[in-house]
Amino acid sequence: MSSIFRCIDCGKSYPLEVKTKCECGGLFEVKHEFREGIRRDIFDKRVGSPNPIIKSGVWRFKELVYPGLDNNHIITKPEGNTNLYTSKLISSFVGTPNLYLKHEGENPTGSFKDRGMTVGVSEAKRLGVNIVACASTGNTSSSLASYAAIADLKCIVFVPEGRIAYGKLAQTLAYGATMIQVKGSFDDAMSLVQQASEELGIYLLNSINPWRIEGQKTIVFDLIQQLNWKPPDWIILPAGNLGNTSAFGKALTELEELDLIDEKPRLAAIQAECADPFYRLWSTGSSLLEPNSEAKTVASAIRIGNPVNWKKALSAIKNTNGVVEHVSDQEIMDSKIVVDRSGIGCEPASAASVAGAKRLFDSGVIDKGEKIVCVLTGNILKDPDSTIRYFEGDLPGIKSNIINSSKIVEPSMRDIRKTLEL
Ligand code: F0G
Repeated sequence: MSSIFRCIDCGKSYPLEVKTKCECGGLFEVKHEFREGIRRDIFDKRVGSPNPIIKSGVWRFKELVYPGLDNNHIITKPEGNTNLYTSKLISSFVGTPNLYLKHEGENPTGSFKDRGMTVGVSEAKRLGVNIVACASTGNTSSSLASYAAIADLKCIVFVPEGRIAYGKLAQTLAYGATMIQVKGSFDDAMSLVQQASEELGIYLLNSINPWRIEGQKTIVFDLIQQLNWKPPDWIILPAGNLGNTSAFGKALTELEELDLIDEKPRLAAIQAECADPFYRLWSTGSSLLEPNSEAKTVASAIRIGNPVNWKKALSAIKNTNGVVEHVSDQEIMDSKIVVDRSGIGCEPASAASVAGAKRLFDSGVIDKGEKIVCVLTGNILKDPDSTIRYFEGDLPGIKSNIINSSKIVEPSMRDIRKTLEL
C-alpha cells in the first residue's frame, strides 16, 4: 500500500484498517507516498471524461486521495465538479469585485459531505464491513444514508433530537437509514456514536475517519483547477466540526509539496457567534479547546460546541497563515438572503462564509483587490423552515429585512389585479 495512517498526537503509524483512532486516543491522518510525476495536465485531461469513475470531481484526483484503492471498491454517484460562481449582487454586498462562490450544495445529496462519503464508503466496501454509522446535524447523515444505500450497507445515524433541518431529516429517512434521535446536543450524539462503534463493531464515518478528510480535500483541488491552477488569496469556509478546515489545510500543504501550486491561499474559518469554541481558541491563543455546552445558532448545521477535528484545523489555520472569525445569526441570515436573491441560494450555515468575508473585508483583514473564494456548503432546499420564517418575519431573534410571504387569491382576474396592484 502506498498509504498509511499516522496518529497526529503520538506519531505512531498503522496499516489501513477498520480502526479510525490511535490507541492513545489521537486522530489519524492519512499519509500517502505520492508517485513521481504528478502534474496538473494529468487532471486537466480528465475534465469532462465519460469514464464512470474519473468523471467524479473526487476520483479525478485519485492519485492525491487514495492512490492504492482498487477501482472495483469505488462507490460514486458521481460527486464534485460543482460550479464556481461570480455574482455582482454578492460582490457588492461583501464589498469586493474579486469574489467567487464554490457551490458545494450542488453535490448529489446537496452538500459537500458527498466528497468525503464517496471515499469513506468505498473504504467500508474494501474493508468488508456491514454496518456504517455517524452522528450528524443532518447533512452527513443524508450523505451517508445515500452512499450506504448504493453500497448495500446498513446505516445508523445519531442526530440531536428536534434540532436538524426538515429537508435533511426527510432525506436521511428516505434513503433508508435507521435514525436515532438523541435527547441532547450534536456533541452528545457524537460521543455516543463513538462509543457505539467501538462496542458494537460499527464502522464510523464521521470526519474523525481520516478518509472523509481525503475526499473533502478535493473541494480545494477542484476550485484551484477551475481557476486555472492560479490559487485565490483567500478561501473562506463555514466551520463546525472542523473536518473541512482540516481537509483544506491538508490539501493546500500537499499541493504545495507536489509543486502543483506556487503559493498557498490563506484559510478563513468562520463560526457562528454562539457556537464558536474554535474562534475562542484561536483568538485567545490558547492551546486547548474549551467546549461550549450551550452552542446555539440559527445555522443548525454548525451548532457544535465540541468540534472533534480542532487540532488538525488549528494546524491548517497556522500552516496557511489563516484566520478564524465569528459572525452573528443576523449576519448569517442577511448574507443568506443576498446569496438567495442572487439566484444562487444556499442553506444558512453556508452563508457564514459570505458573512465572514464581509466582516474580514470591513475590518481590513482582507484587502481590496485580493481574490477570494467563499465555499457554500449546502443547498437552499435543506432548511426550508428558516427561509420561510425569515420571509414571514417570524425567525426568533432575527430581524427580517425583506418580507416575501405568498399571497392567497380567489381564482379571478379581479383578485389578481388587486393583489399585483396592476
Ligand atoms: N456547512 C454545512 C452545510 C454543514 O452541514 C456542516 C457540517 C458545516 C458547514 C461545517 O463543516 O463540520 O467540516 O466544519 N455538518 C455536519 C453534519 C456536522 O453532521 O452534517 P465542518
